[in-house]
Amino acid sequence: MGMNALRKRGAEHASERLIENAVPCQTRHAVVQADCCELLRRLPDESVQLIVCDPPYNINLAEWDNHSNYIEWAATWLREAERVLAPTGNLAIFGGLQYQGEAGSGDLLEILSFMRKNSEMRLANLIIWYYKNGMSAHRFFANRHEEIAWFGKTKRYFFDLDAVRVPFDEETKAAYLRDKRLRPESVEKGKNPTNVWEIGRLNGNSVERVGHPTQKPRAVVQRLVRALSYPGSVVLDFFAGSGVTARVCVEEHRHSVSSDISGQLDTFLEAQLKDYPPGLFNGAANGFAIAKDLKEHPVMRGRGQPNGVAVCEAITPAV
Ligand SMILES: C[S@@+](CC[C@H](N)C(=O)[O-])C[C@H]1O[C@@H](n2cnc3c(N)ncnc32)[C@H](O)[C@@H]1O
Repeated sequence: MGMNALRKRGAEHASERLIENAVPCQTRHAVVQADCCELLRRLPDESVQLIVCDPPYNINLAEWDNHSNYIEWAATWLREAERVLAPTGNLAIFGGLQYQGEAGSGDLLEILSFMRKNSEMRLANLIIWYYKNGMSAHRFFANRHEEIAWFGKTKRYFFDLDAVRVPFDEETKAAYLRDKRLRPESVEKGKNPTNVWEIGRLNGNSVERVGHPTQKPRAVVQRLVRALSYPGSVVLDFFAGSGVTARVCVEEHRHSVSSDISGQLDTFLEAQLKDYPPGLFNGAANGFAIAKDLKEHPVMRGRGQPNGVAVCEAITPAV
């Protein structure tokens, strides 16, 4: 039964008993240069609530985008991702379904097929990320969507629909509020954003851009973070690219671990957080602290925490 149906009956979803939803007064953000598999091996079992995963697909975008057997390589981090997720955890994998015969390339279809055969995780949604701005094409219909495959680790996966509801427009809202069959509280909350998300891609001159070629829009990552994790939980992004996940986590009061094989992650993250005070890597600022290692990061407490999920207690702010 869904969370909303249970709440109407005054009951709670199994995942809600597993979390302590308290906003910490300071969140911690580890930013590490590392190969994804090497980073994952260092993380304890069941220590992460959400993995935002935007992998390379071997389509020769850069020298890192080149693996002779794509799915064999992907299998290593997919298995590790499942191991590090808490029982309430979620995995969101970005990708597309089109391929044009590039030798050794991968795509989301291949990942979905691997997961179906080799993983206990359940596909909760295949989200269509639809945008109106994109490249033109002459030999096929111009592409205007990408996909995000959302897997829950167990049937107790956490999902906070209320955190991402979309307000009704004023006219619809007024009409619904007059409709006696509808509950006013539900109308006020807004609607389910559905599994088709219309969010523009970043144009070349977008103010969000920090220089990474495949940077995702903040609004997409924010919706994932708000719905699939909770304040004080740990979000992991081991293909961190521009550092957008870390930035969203700072703003949404989640702890985060970001890593990338590229040494540019630090610079990108500084640009992401340029509105915050200088010297970010030296300690705490504005309710968050950034470090280049995993020491004392909540993720390292892993399993064994109350309820078996990543810690969500308040951390004393640095003075
Ligand atoms: C598609 S981009 C991610 C973009 C990111 N989601 C964003 O919005 O900025 C993939 C990233 O994976 C990194 N990468 C490629 N191979 C890797 C590996 N073996 N381990 C860790 N990072 C890797 C690349 O450096 C690149 O930044």
